[in-house]
Parts: sequence; C-alpha cells; structure tokens
Amino acid sequence: MRKYARGGILTLGATLAKQSGASRTSPILRGNWLCEVVLGEKLPKPPKNVPVLAEEPPEGFTERQLTERHSSDPACSKCHQRIDPYGFAMENYDAIGRYRVRDAAGNPIDASSRLPTGEAIRSFDDLRSHLETHRKEDFVRQFNRKLLGYALGRSVQLSDEPILKEILLRQSENSFSIQETVCQIVLSKPFRQIRGKDFRDPALEQ
Ligand code: HEC
Repeated sequence: MRKYARGGILTLGATLAKQSGASRTSPILRGNWLCEVVLGEKLPKPPKNVPVLAEEPPEGFTERQLTERHSSDPACSKCHQRIDPYGFAMENYDAIGRYRVRDAAGNPIDASSRLPTGEAIRSFDDLRSHLETHRKEDFVRQFNRKLLGYALGRSVQLSDEPILKEILLRQSENSFSIQETVCQIVLSKPFRQIRGKDFRDPALEQ
C-alpha cells in the first residue's frame, strides 16, 4: 500500500465522491465510471426496471454485500460482472473518498475481487497494477480521444479515427508521453482548419 493510499485519478476524493450514493459508496457507479469514462468501454444500457439500492445497507450487511445481493442474480450478473469487480476494489474509500479499513458499521472492508478477465485481485493496488499492465493502451486511447474532443470543442467523430490512430502510434514510439498527444493534436487538420461551412456572399443576400 502506498503511504497515503493516493495517486492517480481513481483515488481523487472528487472522483470517488461523485461516483457514490449520498451516504454510501457505489461499487457499481465507480466500476461503471472506470469502464466507460476511463477505459472507453461501451457497456449496454441498464434495463429500466432495476431496483434502487437503499441509502443505508440493512443491519448486518456491508455496502459491498448490498450490491452483491442485487447484482448476483443471473439476469443482472452478465453486465454487472463486467462492472462491479472494479468498484469492489475501491471499497477502501468511503462515500466522500476518505481512506478506511472499516465501514460505518465497523465491518472490515473487503476490497478483493475477481476481474472480468478472471484475474483475482486482493486490493486496490492490485487493480492499479492490472490496469497498468493490461489496460494501458485502452487508457491512453481514451485519454487521447477525450483530449482531442476537448481541444476541438466538439465530440469526436468517426472521421477523427485516423488521427487518433496516428497519435497512438507516435506515442507508443515515444514511451506514451502526453507531450506527444498535445503536439499531434495541435498539428492535426481538424485542429488547424475549420470544417467547411456554407459560404454566403453578403452581396447576394440584399
Ligand atoms: C445491460 C446491462 C445491465 C443489466 C442486465 C443490469 N444492469 Fe444494473 N446497471 C448497469 C449499468 C451500466 C449501471 C450504471 C450506470 C447507470 O445507472 O446508467 C447499472 C446500475 C445499477 C444500479 C445503481 C447503482 C447505485 O449504486 O445506485 C443498481 C442498483 C443496479 N444496476 C442493479 C441491477 C439489478 C438488480 C439488475 C438485474 C435485475 C441489473 N442491475 C441489471 C447495467 C446493467
């Protein structure tokens, strides 16, 4: 465990608090955020009729058990086994992102889980190593996509894919440096040129 149990975007208080309930953690929302926003996975939309989880786990249950009780149903688990294990690994952080070893009811925290790849992990540190070893390219690809969209002030489109491919290629040759992403974006066509708009000659409009 790192000295302050922090480092990187996943352990920022804001990230952890945003993907929580009002007074409980949400391994589902945290896991979903990691998959979709950080790693760029496309998950199927949840069905409309899912139950809302209680704000407080019932007597004798941890927040994790509250989640597991719902999403282990076979109708739910085909999606939730792709999401929840990531969130379980973040259970050492409470609903506002404070590090904890016990929950509010005094139960010890269990941050172990089995990732969708089948790999068993014991802690958040193991999740971090897993992401670094197996998901680095997914993360970098998604980071580039987000930064490109931000730089262009619009959502990234299919026609931007060749640029994203090029940036990733350049980065893999330059030990994944962020500078490389910035340079490639600034040099790219969509950044330097405005997409053709219908030109109207004011003289003809009078
Ligand atoms: C098609 C995939 C899918 C299926 C099937 C599915 N879910 Fe979900 N569920 C999600 C996703 C993705 C989210 C998180 C994002 C969102 O709410 O849009 C979610 C969110 C939730 C939440 C909200 C979490 C929170 O902390 O507020 C609960 C509770 C939940 N699901 C329970 C269930 C249960 C119970 C079932 C089975 C009856 C089920 N889900 C079936 C994909 C699925």
